[in-house]
Amino acid sequence: MRSLILVLIGLFVGFAATLIGMNALRQGTAYPNGVMAVMGAQMKGLQSSLKQNRCSASDLTPRLQTLRRLGNDLEPAFLPTQDDERFVSHASQLRAALDAALAAPPADCTAAGVVVDRIGGACQDCHRDFKN
Ligand code: HEC
Repeated sequence: MRSLILVLIGLFVGFAATLIGMNALRQGTAYPNGVMAVMGAQMKGLQSSLKQNRCSASDLTPRLQTLRRLGNDLEPAFLPTQDDERFVSHASQLRAALDAALAAPPADCTAAGVVVDRIGGACQDCHRDFKN
């Protein structure tokens, strides 16, 4: 009876420790995952606007603004990495692409396509180096 109780206590402590550990891991990745999830959603939104031929400033600007503001959260969410300098340079490249897009809103869908491709390229450059 005594050993059975000890085994049950052992199982319970192990279970509780696992839960605490899993929770800590999840909290550690919630911020970076959240930044990327919203960026991904906004990028999809831009692409579907293009597909539907909706390329006016009012279609695109709010998404570009969200992406630009989130761009400020790249370093706080991900640093330290294995190569911070490189990460910061990729992040700056994305911010520059978004600044350019916001400063000179594309006039039509062809121009918007070029802008969105450039932004997507900046996403991919960083993913190539940092996303496994
Ligand atoms: C400066 C680096 C950097 C830039 C720029 C960047 N990302 Fe990421 N992204 C990452 C890293 C690192 C990961 C992997 C995250 C992980 O594994 O926790 C990632 C993962 C993702 C994911 C997958 C999330 C998942 O749960 O697997 C999506 C979607 C994403 N990014 C979208 C984007 C979009 C869209 C852009 C551009 C608008 C972008 N990212 C720009 C670094 C970046």
